[in-house]
Order: sequence, then structure tokens, then C-alpha cells
Amino acid sequence: MGISLFLGPRDLRGQNTANVTGHGASLRRMGGPPEFGGFSDVDATGDPGGYAGYLDAVRDVGAVAEWKERSFALLEPRPGAVLLDVGCGTGDDALVLAGRVAPGGRVIGIDVSAAMIDEARRRGAAGVVDLRVGDATRLDLPDDGVDGARAERTLQHLARPEEAVAEMARVVRPGGRVVLAEPDWATLVVDPSDPALGGELARSASERVRSGTVGRRLRGMLAGAGLAEVDVAARVLLVADAARARLLFDLDGALESAVAAGRVTWAAADSWRADVDRAADGGRYLAAMTAFMAWGRVM
Ligand SMILES: C[S@@+](CC[C@H](N)C(=O)[O-])C[C@H]1O[C@@H](n2cnc3c(N)ncnc32)[C@H](O)[C@@H]1O
Repeated sequence: MGISLFLGPRDLRGQNTANVTGHGASLRRMGGPPEFGGFSDVDATGDPGGYAGYLDAVRDVGAVAEWKERSFALLEPRPGAVLLDVGCGTGDDALVLAGRVAPGGRVIGIDVSAAMIDEARRRGAAGVVDLRVGDATRLDLPDDGVDGARAERTLQHLARPEEAVAEMARVVRPGGRVVLAEPDWATLVVDPSDPALGGELARSASERVRSGTVGRRLRGMLAGAGLAEVDVAARVLLVADAARARLLFDLDGALESAVAAGRVTWAAADSWRADVDRAADGGRYLAAMTAFMAWGRVM
């Protein structure tokens, strides 16, 4: 538990640099991350490409790739196994897993967004992964139908994530694993920021999705669903490059929400952004957030 990951300026490649305009205009900028709350219904946003692009940017982070790899290994993939990826997004993880259950195995990728499933097909998962549009809280699969199931950064977008966990426990056969990986947005910290503004940033970051603090609940939800051998790990994602932190954590969106809610004044927001610029120029900037992973075995 508690391994730190340090992302310096070169750990994220080719990402958009935030171009935040002055107050009065939206802090959200062209080319920046999409509104995270839109992941609950990507098809309704009219910008599925923006959401897929953000997932690619996250996937490019070396530390995230390691974290994904760990979740794959915890599923205990083997030739012939049937695995499920809930909230599969662009299908890239399901594709990797498909290679690990060949020959004879199968990976099912389910996502509530038809646009994401189309994108997964476009990327080559069609024919290799069994792609389906479906809701994590009502899986159209029989009891004990798969050997293992994972969900990564999906439960945060559900109002009642425990319903999806119960569904995953239902469809995994006895002895198989359920693996969950989610952030806990309330753990977001940024230096520089005074405690009041920093607290508001973390609060806004966690409130913009339906279950922004689900990370800390993963272990409890698996135990609550009756799984055995439940365990949990946490990693701190450290980002020392201000532009990259803005993209990965959508810090401008969080600040904008705090201002819109009347919890941070424009003056305080402007002053903070100036402090951030100075810290970035002086090599003193740091942002961090804790990501959790929990797993358990179906009895
Ligand atoms: C942040 S993305 C993560 C995608 C992928 N797991 C990854 O790690 O790249 C969240 C995904 O969950 C999907 N999603 C949101 N609500 C869902 C639901 N109720 N059932 C299934 N998928 C859902 C979204 O469409 C999106 O593709």
C-alpha cells in the first residue's frame, strides 16, 4: 500500500496546455479536459471524441499504465477464461485482456455509452472483445457467467455504485475475482493553495461526479457484497507539471465550480492562478490525488 508515483514534466506527453482566460469568461478552455460529470452519459454530451481523448491522455501516463497492469493481474487471466470489463470506454483495456485469455477465452466489454462502444469497435476491439451497450447496475449476464470482472474509474460516475458491485459479484462465478479501481477526488491537494481554497478545490472536484469519494469505499463495498479475501491498495498520483495537472485533474473546472457555487471569489481565483503560475515557473508546483484499488473473491 501507499506507493507514491511521481509525474514530472516528461511523464505526460503531448498534452494540451491550459489557456485559462481572465475572469468573466469561463475558466474552461478549448482543448482542455471535458466536463467530468458528462461521463455519466457521454452520448448526451455531443462530444464523445473529447471524452475518448481524455481517456487516452490518462492512459498515456506511465503510472496509470502500471496501475492498470496491476488490476489486470489481479483478475488472474489465463487462456480460456471469460472476463468482464464494466465501463470499458474505448475498449483498450478489454483488448489487452483479450490477449491474456487467448486461446479459447473471451472478454466482454460493457459500457452505457453507445458512442464509446462504437469507438471501441473502431479501435479494433470488434471481433476480439464481446462489446455491448449496457448499464453497470443491470448487467445482462447470467449468474456465475464469468471468471472475473473489473471496473476502473466507472463507479465514480454512478449514483449508487454498490448496485454495480452487487451485479459484478452476481455474474462472477464462485472463486473468481472482482477488481475495482477508482479515484477519491476529495484527496486532491495542490501546492500552492491556502487551506480554504485548497479545500474548496477538492470539494468541487469530488462533487462534479456522482460518487467522487467512492475510492475510499471500495473495500467496504466488496465486503458488503459478501466477497472474501478482500484487500485494498492505494497510490498517490503526483503531478509536478502545472499544465498537466490542470488537464488530468481538470483543476480549472473545479475552480470554476467553486466560483459558480459562490464558495470562492473571482479575486481569490485570480490570485490563486497567479500563485500557481509563479510556482510553476519556479519549479515549486505540486498536485496530488489518491487512487484506490480493491479486490475480493466471490464465495
Ligand atoms: C472515466 S471512463 C473509464 C473508462 C475505462 N474504464 C478506462 O479506464 O479507460 C468511465 C466510463 O464509464 C462509462 N459509464 C458511465 N456510467 C455507466 C454505467 N451506468 N454503466 C456502464 N458504463 C458506464 C462511461 O461511458 C465511460 O466510458
